[in-house]
Amino acid sequence: MLRADDENVMPWVEKYRPDSVFSPNFINQELIIKNLQFYANNPEKNMPHLLFSGPPGTGKTTAAIALAHDVLKDKYRPDTVLELNASDERGIDVVRGKIKNFTSMQEFLDVPFKIVILDEADSITRDAQSAMRRVIEIASQNVRFILMCNYADEIIDPIKSRCAIMRFKPLSPEHVKKHLKGIAQKEGFEISDDCIDAVIFVGQGDMRKSINALQMATSVIEVHEQLNPSIVYELEGFADPLKIKDIITFLTASSNNKKDRDDSFKKLLAIFKDLKGISSKNLILQIFKEIVKLSALNTKQKANLIDVLSSIDFRITVKATDEIQYSVLAATLWELLKPGNKIT
Ligand SMILES: Nc1ncnc2c1ncn2[C@@H]1O[C@H](COP(=O)(O)OP(=O)(O)OP(=O)(O)O)[C@@H](O)[C@H]1O
Ligand SMILES: [Mg+2]
Repeated sequence: MLRADDENVMPWVEKYRPDSVFSPNFINQELIIKNLQFYANNPEKNMPHLLFSGPPGTGKTTAAIALAHDVLKDKYRPDTVLELNASDERGIDVVRGKIKNFTSMQEFLDVPFKIVILDEADSITRDAQSAMRRVIEIASQNVRFILMCNYADEIIDPIKSRCAIMRFKPLSPEHVKKHLKGIAQKEGFEISDDCIDAVIFVGQGDMRKSINALQMATSVIEVHEQLNPSIVYELEGFADPLKIKDIITFLTASSNNKKDRDDSFKKLLAIFKDLKGISSKNLILQIFKEIVKLSALNTKQKANLIDVLSSIDFRITVKATDEIQYSVLAATLWELLKPGNKIT
């Protein structure tokens, strides 16, 4: 019978989550990790309260839990660590209840300090944050807070000033690549560089997304025995990059002949129609990434195009119909890029 803790049934994001700040598998946050290693080695040397901020899937929760384990070792228990996810418990009651109870208990525990790990702290209401600053202050003798958030701007200044802020950066493609290759190898899969690159692209610096995409891709290998980048993109709701290339080719084909241009506009619309079902956010991101690479366009043209993309992106976000917006996108890009249209 399979057990929930059986390594083989664990999602890879959990199986390959580094469990110590000294783990060689902790990648790409060198400066932060060096600091955390220092605190892990010298907890009694006044480890401050910590605030980890940064984009999703870059190692904040992983680092917080790993550090708490490194500091407390075998004394990591419910009476020494309070783990809370603030998106479930965002109100002032939690601060006055659970957090205050935990921090005010003065029992002898034989640990350097107790730890409160508060994930998604940016979703805590302002009132609750205000109440928390007092709790943090009173508890500082025997408790350390590790707060995590995506946006440090959402945290009130008095809390920020009580914490050392560590800003996690999006993971670089090179580091993610090395990490994913290591995972594929440990799992016994051969996966081409092209496919790994696709997995990295769909992750956009978010390791959680990339590892999940890798795990999904390898299940395709198990079932169909072959994998190509287009499948990876499709599985993750991105357009086949070859189609994006076609879009750019039609957009920039500089014919002055009316019939040629009418033909290629029709083809352009057909490609967009075919892309229905692809996440529009992803599609716009992919077109954006190609457009900024175009050497034939000057900066002003690129700025105009990006402006168009961002307004279409906004309209789709507020639930305008994809199909109509794609037609608007095709027509606007077409107009902007037609030969002889001098945007200077
Ligand atoms: N720097 C890293 N090195 C190695 N693996 C990482 C790193 N960052 C993230 N991961 C992997 O991605 C998964 C998700 O990471 P984690 O939960 O720490 O992200 P997070 O920064 O807390 O994201 P969120 O803002 O969404 O909460 C981890 O289980 C781990 O496998
Ligand atoms: Mg997290």
